[in-house]
Amino acid sequence: MSSDKSAAAAATAVAVAVATLPSVDLCKGVNGLDKVVLREARGSSAEVYLYGGHVTSWKNDHGEELLFVSSKAIFKPPKAIRGGIPICFPQFSNVGTLEQHGFARNKIWTIDTDPPPLPTNPTSKAYVNLILKPSDEDLKIWPHRFEFRLRVALGPGGDLMLTSRIRNTDEKPFSFTFAYHTYFSVSDISEVRVEGLETLDYLDNLQNRERCTEQGDAITFEGEFDKIYLGTPTKIAIIDHEKKRTFVIRKDGLPDAVVWNPWDKKAKAMADFGDEEYKYMLCVESAAIEKSITLKPGEEWKGRQELSAVPSSYCSGQLDPEKVLQSC
Ligand code: BG6
Repeated sequence: MSSDKSAAAAATAVAVAVATLPSVDLCKGVNGLDKVVLREARGSSAEVYLYGGHVTSWKNDHGEELLFVSSKAIFKPPKAIRGGIPICFPQFSNVGTLEQHGFARNKIWTIDTDPPPLPTNPTSKAYVNLILKPSDEDLKIWPHRFEFRLRVALGPGGDLMLTSRIRNTDEKPFSFTFAYHTYFSVSDISEVRVEGLETLDYLDNLQNRERCTEQGDAITFEGEFDKIYLGTPTKIAIIDHEKKRTFVIRKDGLPDAVVWNPWDKKAKAMADFGDEEYKYMLCVESAAIEKSITLKPGEEWKGRQELSAVPSSYCSGQLDPEKVLQSC
């Protein structure tokens, strides 16, 4: 090979290597808000806004968007972004005196350049660490000093992992509730079923949080749905028949799971949500709600959610709920 040719081959090899390296970029998103873009070598990606520490995009290696974000989402503080993965902290919903779902989802987080190590090292380099500490204004409405560290990471196979660590840096204990309010993108809500929550107790948000027990088979959707399932397993599956895709949620430290779809009437009442968009989304939220988490001074809590999207055929026993969860 001539030296010209070998130099060109070497340059191409470097270009290919760089193009397939995982990467992390900080850039401007909607309305000039800062966002971090994570890209994995095989092509999957995710976007995280510093506003809210909010994941707004998760794409597989074919570039298909897996999260739902409303076409009417308002990317403007103090309104939380409608879709993606809002963080509900220190209060889920209106169970307390704070604003709905707490304040973390409408604060500007910062990039944490030197977080304490996690016991498991990330298997990929496509990750970002964010941190939220209360401002003087926050301390007026919730008088507790904390450090909330959020790591968002893309695994080599495109899995999306969120790890939250909340530390009490105050001199007195505090309690909180929490949720990863994940909006999944689905092809048609009427063709979707959720597995892993059958026969569990739940609090029905549409019936004054009355405690009931789920009957029958997998959960399907025919109208407004807003339930907090209690003591849920660490694995939950969302099966999208039309897309032939199964989302698998694995969670740790988060015993509850909220399932929400506003359906048509509530959709029309939300200014930042399209009238018909309820058909294309489903929220399944890994959460700690029924029993609030209490941290003494110096203590830390950890809550983790890992999402994967696999072809339904991959889950061999598709028609058998037990097998879907076993094989995915
Ligand atoms: C869900 C709640 O978690 O969030 C619902 O269970 C609520 O009751 C929904 O309507 C959306 O809340 P928000 O504040 O983002 O409009």
